[in-house]
This record gives sequence, structure tokens and C-alpha cells, in this order.
Amino acid sequence: MAMNLQLSVIGCGYLGVTHAACMSSLGFNVVGVETDARKVAMLQKGELPFYEPGLDTLLAQEIASGRLTFTTDVSAIKDADLHFICVGTPQRSDSFAADLTYVDSAIEAIAPHLKPGALVAGKSTVPVGTAQRLRERLAVTAPQAELAWNPEFLREGFAVEDTLRPNRLVVGVTSDRAEEILKQAYEPVIALGTPWIRADLPTAELVKVAANSFLATKISFINAMAEICEAADGDVTVLAQAIGYDPRIGNKFLQAGIGFGGGCLPKDIRAFMARAEELGAKQALEFLREVDAINLRARLRVIEVVRSELGRDLTARKIAILGTTFKPDSDDVRDSPALDIAVQLHRAGAQVLVHDPKGIKPAKARFPELNFEEDVYTTLKDAELTLHLTEWKEYRALDPVEIASIVKDKIMIDGRNLLNRELWRAAGWKFRALGRSD
Ligand code: UGA
Repeated sequence: MAMNLQLSVIGCGYLGVTHAACMSSLGFNVVGVETDARKVAMLQKGELPFYEPGLDTLLAQEIASGRLTFTTDVSAIKDADLHFICVGTPQRSDSFAADLTYVDSAIEAIAPHLKPGALVAGKSTVPVGTAQRLRERLAVTAPQAELAWNPEFLREGFAVEDTLRPNRLVVGVTSDRAEEILKQAYEPVIALGTPWIRADLPTAELVKVAANSFLATKISFINAMAEICEAADGDVTVLAQAIGYDPRIGNKFLQAGIGFGGGCLPKDIRAFMARAEELGAKQALEFLREVDAINLRARLRVIEVVRSELGRDLTARKIAILGTTFKPDSDDVRDSPALDIAVQLHRAGAQVLVHDPKGIKPAKARFPELNFEEDVYTTLKDAELTLHLTEWKEYRALDPVEIASIVKDKIMIDGRNLLNRELWRAAGWKFRALGRSD
């Protein structure tokens, strides 16, 4: 029965392609719909338009199986029983709120093609109340269909693993039938023992933003401790390790450094604040404003460390920057702290040379004025100071003795607290990091 379900995925960005390829790998026929014809042309050939470990092979394999297809033609969804909405909900340019244009147009576009009994499951991160609004809209445009919300918790860099073996599955539904259809779709995942949580629509929407807010708060908490450690001559890495042994606190997401970025955490906490205000519950999320402020301050703090080494005037000072992406194993530079710091140093007059294993192309598209370098050793040549800003494995593998002869001055600032300080110091480097006074 389960394998008879036909699926569609609306919106083939990061989330959509991952979801489509993973559901296809579970044996379902999946059609992915995307308005960007260039993306569709690539996907049809089994080529991934972005970098995500393991997804390239899975995509090629599923295209070859014949179960997975991509199209710009939305009428191709007409035979599907279950439709996953995976379009983006970026921050609006004029406020903190989420831009729901893509979600709204996806619902309008699919409505005329939905077959009787079809279930539409939203996966996009939306402000609470959106699902109910879309449900009312579908009641007019496609009364034969039903709406559910099924938030997604995948992390970039682990997208396939997180989709096929998630920590939990959350479904917001308004009928037993909708829950049954989703259970059929996720049957192989449920069989792994994955917790299944049935919720109402608003709770399902809220679970997602609550989870991201908690994660953002945890990171900003440790970065606040980093500020205190700097002021009090402490060491935040030791502090994090020590508090992390308490299972109630846990050691994950306690990595102090230049803070969080990406297409999710920053915009999600802002949209959550904006929505709380609309709901008359502004005060409940005031702390997220502080979480955001601490996070943005981390970027400024690292620039202060640079100035304390090179002097206030950075004009023409040669700075090597390791990393542009918001995290390793991704080519995503959206709201990347590393790229932001590179841009700020460039604007302050410094001569920055930027390296990244995967993120140069997208970074260049946003900031063509920056100097990028494909080779890490050329990046480091004659640098007066080096910043480690994205924690790629390759950077931890650099030999401080070998590169000591390449740079002009042996000054390393570790914005991620992940390089081996003793090793760098033993090779004669001045080594500084956020949250460690020593
Ligand atoms: C995040 C959530 O972790 C996912 O569960 C969620 O599904 C996703 O957003 C989403 O909403 O789609 P992601 O954006 O891939 O996933 O990245 P994270 O792994 O959460 O990292 C976010 C940022 O926090 C990165 O810039 C990372 O460098 C930073 N970070 C993380 C720290 O600065 N310190 C830490 O201890 C952990």
C-alpha cells in the first residue's frame, strides 16, 4: 500500500531536492516542481545545483532509477496523493518578518491540479498561523484537498542523514486520515524507531521555530560567556566542556566563536519575534533580541582582536581569511559570519584574501569586490594576520610549521576555537581566540 503513494515536492531548493531524492530512495515515485528552468535542467541530468555531501550521488542514483523526475510544469503533480511544500521563506527586505510570497504562490499554483483526497503537507518554516490561513484558502480553491504541516529539522552538511534518520517526525494535522497518509509516506523511517509526534497545526509550526530559537540561544549563551571570560581572564572552551558534562545542559551547540549564520537560525528568530509581536506576545520573545545582538557582536569582537594586533588603521594590511561559508561541508554563504567579517575588513581598507574549499563561487556572486583565492597556500602568502572563520577539516590539517614560512607575520586568530593552540604556539605563532584571554 505504502509504495503506491505518488508524491510531489514543490520548490526544489536545498530542502526540496533533499526531500525529493530521499523519498525516492525509499521507493516512492516523486515529481519535483521548480520554477527556475535552469535548476530543473540540471536536476533532470542528476546534477546538484549546490554542495551537500552524499546528496549528489543519491540524486544521480534516484534519477537513474526512474522514480524521480523534475519539471517546471506544475500540472505534472496531478496524479500525486501527497504534496510537500518546500519553498523558501526568507526574511523580508523591509522588516524582520518572513516573506511568504513563495508559499502563497505555491498553494495558488497547485490548487487547480490537486486530485480528490490529495494531502498538501507544508515543510517550509512559516510564522505560526500560516497553515490555518492556507487551509482556509484551499477550502476555496481546492475543497477536494486537505492541508497538514510537517516541519523539517535537517542540518546542512547532514541533510540526507537527517532526512532518512531524523530525531523525530512532527505532523500537524486536522484529521486521522491526514495522519495516516503521512504515516504511509514515512513508514520506513518510522520503522527505524523514529518518534512520531501528532500535533495541531499551530503547534507543528511552532515546534520548528522553537527548536531553532533554542539552538540560537544556546550558541549566544556560550558567546556571552566568551565575553565574560575575556573580561575576567577565563577560558570559555574549558567552561563549555565543564558545563557540557551536565546532561541537562549537554555539550552540543556550545562551541564559542563568531556565532551562527545561514539561511535558518538568524531569519527564524527574527520572524518569530515579528510574529509574537503581531500576536500581542512580544514580551515573551524579547530575549531573542539579545540572542541576535550577542550573535552580531561576536563578529565585531573578532574585528576588535584584529585591530588590537594590527592597529586601528587597517588600510592596506594583508589579512588572510580561511572560510566564507556559514559552516563547513556546505557552500551556503547566506548570512555567513565569516563572509560578513571579510567584507567588514575589506571596507575598513584591509587587503583581504579569502579562501574556502566550496564557498568561493557563491561568495563571489554576492561580493565581487573581495579577493578570492582557490589555493590555501597562495591565500596565506605574505599575510600579516590570518583568521580562521569556518571550521573546515582542511584548516585543522594545516601544518603551522610549514605555513610559518609562507606568511609575513605569524598571527593566527581562531574564530571557531577549534585549532590546536599548543601546536600553533609551538611553531612560533601568536595565537588568539575569542573567549580565551590567554
Ligand atoms: C539549523 C538547525 O540546526 C536545523 O535543525 C534546522 O532544520 C535548520 O537550521 C533549518 O531551519 O532548516 P543549519 O542552518 O544547517 O541547521 O546549521 P546549524 O548546524 O544549526 O548551524 C548554524 C550556525 O551555528 C552555523 O553558522 C554554525 O557555525 C553555528 N554554530 C553551531 C556555532 O557557532 N556554535 C555551535 O556550537 C554550533
